[in-house]
Amino acid sequence: MSGIVVVGAQWGDEGKGKVTDMLAERADAIVRFQGGNNAGHTIVRDGETWKLHLMPSGILHPGKLCVIGNGVVVDPKVLTDELDELRHRGVETKSLRISANAHLIMPYHMMLDHAGEAKLGKLEIGTTRRGIGPCYADKAARLGIRVQDLLDEKILKKKIVAALDPKRSSLRPYARDPRLDLQAMSEEYLTYGHVLEPYIADTSRLVLQRLDRGDMVVFEGAQGAMLDIDHGTYPFVTSSNPVAGAACIGAGVGPKDIDEVWGVAKAYVTRVGAGPFPTELDGPLAEEMRERGGEYGTTTGRPRRVGWMDLVALRYAARLNSLTSLAITKLDVLAGFDPIRACVRYRGAEGAEFDYFPYHQTVLHHAAGEYVELAGFSEDISACRSESDLPAPARDYLEFVADFVGVPIALVGVGPSRDQVIWTGDGGDTAIRLAA
Ligand code: GDP
Ligand code: IMO
Ligand code: MG
Repeated sequence: MSGIVVVGAQWGDEGKGKVTDMLAERADAIVRFQGGNNAGHTIVRDGETWKLHLMPSGILHPGKLCVIGNGVVVDPKVLTDELDELRHRGVETKSLRISANAHLIMPYHMMLDHAGEAKLGKLEIGTTRRGIGPCYADKAARLGIRVQDLLDEKILKKKIVAALDPKRSSLRPYARDPRLDLQAMSEEYLTYGHVLEPYIADTSRLVLQRLDRGDMVVFEGAQGAMLDIDHGTYPFVTSSNPVAGAACIGAGVGPKDIDEVWGVAKAYVTRVGAGPFPTELDGPLAEEMRERGGEYGTTTGRPRRVGWMDLVALRYAARLNSLTSLAITKLDVLAGFDPIRACVRYRGAEGAEFDYFPYHQTVLHHAAGEYVELAGFSEDISACRSESDLPAPARDYLEFVADFVGVPIALVGVGPSRDQVIWTGDGGDTAIRLAA
């Protein structure tokens, strides 16, 4: 048995897609366990770029079981479009399975997401406006509509009516929107049901069968620990739990089915949307980092906020997730920055020092990073394939990060393509096996 969870250890967009795709090569099944099409996971292989939103990042490996777990919120339009696009580009999608218990994003969830953000005005969260928050809210309120409901017209209509009723006043600005017409909405969703029916399954059972026979299963997280609704920078978070513990709930397996947890982190930090970001940069340095890293959102195209590596937050993420291995991506982007800074504590209002992640939102909002300066490197490292190929300052930086966080680095990204990676031979059992 080998269950490996891949999670984001920062504010999302760490390169989970690339790491999952690499692990998928050796895995038998790949399972998305939370989030929805707020995610954008990029895979670059053989010069081709794939941007996946709902599809597990194992889909490019033909024949492997790819699961959209019960913890994911599914916009069936986005899913059917993504399936069409993959098939159009020659990808076999027959081995996809969608949990019958996953919740559906409905047109009114997207409207409520827009309306909620508009109402907040300057205080907006900066959501992706994909209806994620309102969909999870309905799930918790037991007004959600699940994938299995697509297969029963009567139930679907009844549930839509029940879900819409308490939302009437919030949806008043959309009262004339044809997407809210019960007949049109149910017809549209029943059509998705017809298309998706062959993929709908009891995915928990399928995954447990694989684990029981000793297969390697990769559980792919979306977003990152700092966007976790419980542990992140609330309320500037997403509406699900991107931390590793949620893999069990969102896939329908038990805690003992997880053997390793890989945390993906960039060699610096980015964040999309509003909320505290203690190591944020601005001015020309930020511009340079954003341009070199191509830091524009995969889902919304928004410029990502950028900053130096935040080791206080990364150590917090390591603890929350029980990380066994780190994957540090985009080290190549730091070439030319000298010195490289790494935040090792926060300084709050009135000079208070924090070497741990402060629990109080007000403290965090006023926290500024304090840094250790490390020597930079100027060489292009995108062709390096072993640690010994790296310039000494790059190796020192990695060592500093691993020591500070207390988690070994299993792999290092030196470019977007799947072969632009260095396996260190360190990390959990799987990392060591794969590096060999
Ligand atoms: P995810 O949401 O965590 O899967 O990450 P995204 O795909 O949203 O963003 C990561 C971006 O960095 C993508 O454009 C990747 O192609 C790219 N990327 C991943 N690893 C590396 C790396 O090691 N170096 C560089 N230069 N780009 C990388
Ligand atoms: P991946 O999986 C980066 C951010 C949004 C916003 C907040 C809430 O590609 O790493 P939501 O639409 O979820 O209600 O928005 O969360 N956010 C992400 N940021 N990467 C993501 O996904 C994100 N998914 C949501 O920008 O700040
Ligand atoms: Mg992304």
